[in-house]
Amino acid sequence: MSVEQAINIEDLRRMCRRRLPRIAFDYIEGGTEDERGMPTNTAGFLRYRLLPRYLVDVSKREQSVTLFGKAYSSPFGFGPTGTMGLFRRGSELMLAEAARDANIPYVMSGASNASMEAAARIAPDHLWYQLYSATDQGICADLLRRAHNAGIGVLMVTVDVPVRTRRERNIRNGFNFQHKLKPSIVAEALRHPAWIVEYLRHGGAPILDNWAPYAAKGANATEVAQFFNSQVPAPSQTWRELDTFRKLWPGKLVVKGVMTTGDAERAVAAGADGILVSNHGGRQLDRAPAPIDMFPAIDAAVGDKVTLMLDSGIRRGSDIITALCVGAKFTFLGRAGLYGVSAGGLAGAKRVIEIFRTELDLTMGQMGCPTVADLGPECLWTERDLAPVVTRPRG
Ligand code: LAC
Repeated sequence: MSVEQAINIEDLRRMCRRRLPRIAFDYIEGGTEDERGMPTNTAGFLRYRLLPRYLVDVSKREQSVTLFGKAYSSPFGFGPTGTMGLFRRGSELMLAEAARDANIPYVMSGASNASMEAAARIAPDHLWYQLYSATDQGICADLLRRAHNAGIGVLMVTVDVPVRTRRERNIRNGFNFQHKLKPSIVAEALRHPAWIVEYLRHGGAPILDNWAPYAAKGANATEVAQFFNSQVPAPSQTWRELDTFRKLWPGKLVVKGVMTTGDAERAVAAGADGILVSNHGGRQLDRAPAPIDMFPAIDAAVGDKVTLMLDSGIRRGSDIITALCVGAKFTFLGRAGLYGVSAGGLAGAKRVIEIFRTELDLTMGQMGCPTVADLGPECLWTERDLAPVVTRPRG
C-alpha cells in the first residue's frame, strides 16, 4: 500500500507501525506510566459534537488563517517531535519541505537530528524552532543566536519537561543510547528490513546535529546524545530562564506546555506572544487533563492578550475544528506527522497535510462554516446542553 492510498491518519499509523521496528514505533506511540494521557486527549475532543447549520452557501470554502502576521493556508502546522532521524533519515527536512509547499509552519524540535541551518535552507519562511532549556545557559544563548541567524522568526520554549518521565515501553525495549539491545528486540527489528537497510546505509544511529557543536570535538551520535541528556532536562529551570530567553530572542516567543491559568498569566507577564496549550501528547504528566478541557479557562484569563494555540491528540480535521471552536487560533500535529513521514517520507508528510485539509474542508462545509472565522462556541454541543426531560403527571 502506498501513502497515496491512505484514507486517514490511522492508515498512515498502521503503515508506520509495519515499517518501523517495535523499539522505534513504541518511542513514537508511547506515553508515560499507564498511558492514560492519549485516551484522555481523545476523550476530550469527543465530548464535543459539531452542530451543522444548513442552507448556507458553502460553495467557496477557505481554511487559511493569519498567525503572527503571516497568512498560512491551513490552521495547523507540524509541531516539534524529536529524534526523527531514527524513524527515517532526513525526515525533519521532509516535514520542512512539505510544510513549505503547503504554506504551513514546521517547528523543528530541540532534539532533532537534522540541523536548523539545513531546515532553514529548505523552508526559510516556514521554520520555527523549539528550545529546551539546558543546564548550561550558554548553549541556549548560542542556539537562539543560530536560530535568529538562520532567519527563524518564531521560537517555541517547551516548559513541560522539568524532569524526564518514565516511558515504560522505552524502558522495556531498552530504548536508550547507552544500553546494549536485548536479542529479542534485535530479532524483532530484523523483521523490518527496509528500515534496517536504511539505518545501516546511513552508518547507524543518527546524530543530534544541532547539539554536535557543544559536545566534545569529534563526538559520535551516542556521545552527543549522552551530552544532550546531561543538559536536558534542566530541572532547576524557572521563570527566570524564560525572562532570559525573552531578552535574548528578538522574534515571536511561544511558550509550549502551559496547562493552567496561573502559568498562562505568568507567561504573558514574561512577554510571551503565544501560548501552546499542550500536555506533550500525553508523554509527560500521565494524569494531566486534556488541553481542550483546560482551554476555555485559559482563554478567559489571557485570550485577549496572547495568541492561544493547542496540540495533543489531533487525529482528525474535526479535532482541529473543535479546538478552533473553543477559541484556539492554531493547532499543531505531533504523532500524525511522524506516522506520515515515517511511513512514506516526503510523500507521506504531504499526505498528512492533504488528509487534514480535506477533512477540515468537508467538515466546515457540512457545518455551514465556509471560513475559520465562522467557527465558534455556538457550533459546539455537549451533553451538558441536553434539555431536561419534562415529566408531566399522568392522568
Ligand atoms: C519527546 C520529547 C523528545 O516527547 O519531546 O519524546
